[in-house]
Order: sequence, then structure tokens, then C-alpha cells
Amino acid sequence: MSYKVLVSDPLADEGVDILRGFCEVDVKTGLSEDELVKIINEYDGLLVRSGTQVTEKVINAAEKLKFIGRAGAGVDNIELEPATKRGIIVANAPAGNTLAACEHTLAMMASLARNIPQATASVKKGEWKRSKFMGVELNDKVLGIVGFGRIGQELAKRANALEMKVVAYDPYINKERANELGVEVMTLEQLFPVADFITVHTPLIKETKHLINKDTIATMKTGVRIINCARGGIINEDDLYDAIVAGKVAGAALDVYEEEPPENSKIVTLEQVITTPHLGASTVEAQQNVAVSVAKQCIEVLKGGSAKFV
Ligand code: NAD
Ligand code: MLT
Repeated sequence: MSYKVLVSDPLADEGVDILRGFCEVDVKTGLSEDELVKIINEYDGLLVRSGTQVTEKVINAAEKLKFIGRAGAGVDNIELEPATKRGIIVANAPAGNTLAACEHTLAMMASLARNIPQATASVKKGEWKRSKFMGVELNDKVLGIVGFGRIGQELAKRANALEMKVVAYDPYINKERANELGVEVMTLEQLFPVADFITVHTPLIKETKHLINKDTIATMKTGVRIINCARGGIINEDDLYDAIVAGKVAGAALDVYEEEPPENSKIVTLEQVITTPHLGASTVEAQQNVAVSVAKQCIEVLKGGSAKFV
């Protein structure tokens, strides 16, 4: 039996090559929903990153489709209910970019503490403003990790090496693992008032939507710094904007936004806010890992087997 797979977002060659050893592969990126609807019927498998929106309309037009793979954590851009109804297996690659996202969070935290992006822009403009960019040390500061899963735990290990005091909240926390890592488990109500840096590493679900908002910010330390390299929407950006302008929050580091790209967002205009365009998983290593993982799962499913990360 010969199969055809469509890769509709940029995927590392290592994954595409594995697929090409098994079946015919078309790489067509930047398709609109209508363009995808027109061609999807030819394919047995569809591999995406975050650009392609796999909507109900696309799924309903995909009569042969058996597998949708997302080369990344989460399946936010895939409509699961219609896929499940049609018996299409949806899988992702949740662990392949853990270290990349963790290291990006660390880089954002250090940059935020020392105003590195703002100072870089200033020097490039020909300025030399040493007192303007006074920073704070990470050493001895309390890092509050909200969401103690794969990325949260890797971050705790690295924060320990920086001699930060790490506290964490997760409703499903593995207390033994937290103890091993020297992390103090807290409720959110305990964590918010004691943390100097707060970083969120949860999925965006009903319970975490606007978890950081004007009411929770009010309970935080004045001068807290907030980092989101998880999902836009966990922080209420308007409330964070107001809190920064009021001097309650000293600054924020954002990789993800309520709307991406954040074209109409006022939060990105603040000098105290440092920003990257959803780069958490953007390392060569992570992109190879996730591409290989979804390619292998696709082949398994087309052979009649099951996917590892459904
Ligand atoms: P994970 O599933 O391993 O961990 C998420 C943790 O959040 C789990 O331990 C879960 O129990 C916890 N959680 C669930 N509900 C919660 C709540 N109400 N409050 C606090 N914690 C809660 O996921 P991960 O691989 O560590 O990824 C974390 C986040 O980072 C996800 O949103 C993922 O999509 C995102 N991510 C972003 C990038 C990027 O490019 N910026 C890259 C990779 C992952
Ligand atoms: C992920 O979900 O893996 C990350 O947000 C990165 C991406 O979308 O590629």
C-alpha cells in the first residue's frame, strides 16, 4: 500500500527524510485554509507545527486522513473533536523541545534581570547609559514556578545552580520529585507574595486562562518580574500592562501572546517588557527532535500501529 503525507509547516529535514524512506511526501507551507481543504483529500497523513490551523473544515475534507502530527508540545492548533469523530489519530512531540523552552526561559529571566535587550538597543543607538540599566541579581532570589511539569522541573534544576530559592505550584505536583530537586511546594496563594520572579509553565486551559490577572498581581511582591514562555492567555496582558505602568510589576519577559503576532498589543510597547516571537522551541536540536518524533509516529500509524504521544 502506498501512502502520501503532507507537511504543511516548516519541518526539520531529519523528519522529512525519515518519512521519505517510507512514503511519498509533499512539503507545502503557507497554505490558506481553503487551499488546504482543496488538496487534503489526497493525503493519509498531515504534519504541522503551529502555522497550520487544522480546522473542522479541513478535517471534514480529509477522507483518507489517518494521522495528524504536531511537531511540538500541545495540539492547540488542531481541532480534536472532529478528528476524533473521524477516527483520525492526533499526536504531538511533547518532550523534544523541553530543554529548548527551558533554556529560553532562563535566557529571558537573565535578560530581564539585567535589561540586556534594552541596553543592547541603547548602545546600538550610540548611547552610553550605564546607570539607566541597573539590574538585579538572580542569586538568592525566590523563583516561583507555576506548572511543575517537564519544563518547570528542568528549570528548577538550573535555577538551583544559580543559587535561587525555588518554590513551585502545580495541582498535580509530584512531591517526591520536588523534594529531590530541593523545591518547596506551595499553593498559589503562598507563592505569589514571596516570589521575586514568577514563571508560568502550564498548558492554556480553562483553569489557567488569565491565571495572572489584576487580582493575583495585587497579591504579589512589589517589584516582581514575570515570565511567560508557555502559552499566551495565561497572563491577562491588559492587567499586566496596568501593573507595570503603576510600578507594581518591575518587568516582564514574554515569548507568547494572547494574539500572535501581537499586532494590537500594548504590552509589547513598554520598555520594561522584553519580547521574543514564540522562539521557545526554536533550536536546531529541538526542531530535529520534534520532527523525527512525529515522522516516526506517522509511519507507525500508517503501518497500522499506534502513536506514542496521542
Ligand atoms: P507539561 O505537561 O510537562 O507540564 C505542564 C504542567 O502544568 C503539568 O505538570 C500540569 O500538572 C500543570 N498544570 C496543569 N494545570 C495547572 C494549573 N491550573 N496550575 C498550575 N499547573 C498546572 O508541559 P511542558 O512540556 O512542561 O510545557 C509547559 C508549557 O510550555 C505548555 O503550555 C507548552 O505548550 C508550552 N511550550 C511552549 C514552548 C514555546 O515555544 N514557547 C515550547 C514548548 C512548550
Ligand atoms: C510548542 O508547542 O511546541 C511550542 O509552542 C513551539 C511551537 O509551536 O513550535
